Amino acid sequence: MPDRPKLMHEATVARRLDFGQGYFELVLDCPELAQAMQAGQFINLRVRNELYPLLRRPFSSFDWLADSRGKARGISLLAHVVGQGTRLMSRLEAGQKVSINGPLGKAFEPPQDPAARVIMVGGGIGLAPFMHLVRQWGRLGHKHELVLLAGARSQRDFVFMKRFAETGVETLLATEDGSVGVKGKVTLLLEAELQALKGRPATVLTCGPWRMMEAVSAMCTSQAIPCYASLERVMGCGFGVCNGCVAKVRTEDAPGYRYAKTCVEGTVMEGASLIW
Ligand SMILES: Cc1cc2nc3c(=O)[nH]c(=O)nc-3n(C[C@H](O)[C@H](O)[C@H](O)COP(=O)(O)OP(=O)(O)OC[C@H]3O[C@@H](n4cnc5c(N)ncnc54)[C@H](O)[C@@H]3O)c2cc1C
Ligand code: FES
Repeated sequence: MPDRPKLMHEATVARRLDFGQGYFELVLDCPELAQAMQAGQFINLRVRNELYPLLRRPFSSFDWLADSRGKARGISLLAHVVGQGTRLMSRLEAGQKVSINGPLGKAFEPPQDPAARVIMVGGGIGLAPFMHLVRQWGRLGHKHELVLLAGARSQRDFVFMKRFAETGVETLLATEDGSVGVKGKVTLLLEAELQALKGRPATVLTCGPWRMMEAVSAMCTSQAIPCYASLERVMGCGFGVCNGCVAKVRTEDAPGYRYAKTCVEGTVMEGASLIW
């Protein structure tokens, strides 16, 4: 039987990059974790070695880092300060140790058809896993054409987009206040993308606010385009014990649905399989 990847790690903070507006990137040295981590998976981080905050906090991997010989060295997280846990994380300094569980959950899978255009639709901090995806699929030699449709309330929520620009991935922006890119929701960009396909195969991957992913999934389902969503539910344990992260999944049998633990059955799940 193949060895199961190790799930408990002590990572060292290599550096923290502050983008402003409460967004920051935390670069973590942890070769074993980086070796196993795939785009779309998440880690559960203990923000400090004290009783409070008790629960670990879940984060997608944002970037994947290698040493000068190309060997896995670490991952980074892109985080936004929303509460006490992320505030404490935003003060972590180089050299500090943090306890991590991961990799957890399921990854984004490349479509089998190499001709399929992969349309990534990210909203706000939900853009994070797509950076890792661009890096990972490039490294593994996947030839799919990638396009990133990025949505946010305002330009202020795009302060980290320069990190995507470094990868060269085709990127289109939409903001609700029109401060950069198309004015409106990111689904406007998706509508145009889907129209331009003209029968060409495509797969849509999405991560962001629930209502955005629901709309993305509905648009794809109506055009029979496969859509996979990374469901960032509020989580407790991160590995299937607490039932804190469930989503409704369609079933053939009565009552027509069941509850899936998104931390183990997802977080990446087929949009059409969900009752949003
Ligand atoms: C699988 C997964 C991946 C994630 N990846 C990232 C990431 O890459 N970058 C990032 O910044 N955040 C990410 N999150 C969200 C992140 O885990 C939360 O923002 C964080 O736990 C909040 O901790 P806190 O102590 O700062 O805030 P809390 O004090 O715990 O909460 C502050 C507020 O944020 C809300 N909140 C907490 N968790 C979530 C959530 N999952 N979705 C929506 N609202 C939430 C709470 O309801 C509350 O209103 C992810 C969540 C999941 C489940
Ligand atoms: S977070 Fe505990 S079961 Fe999913």
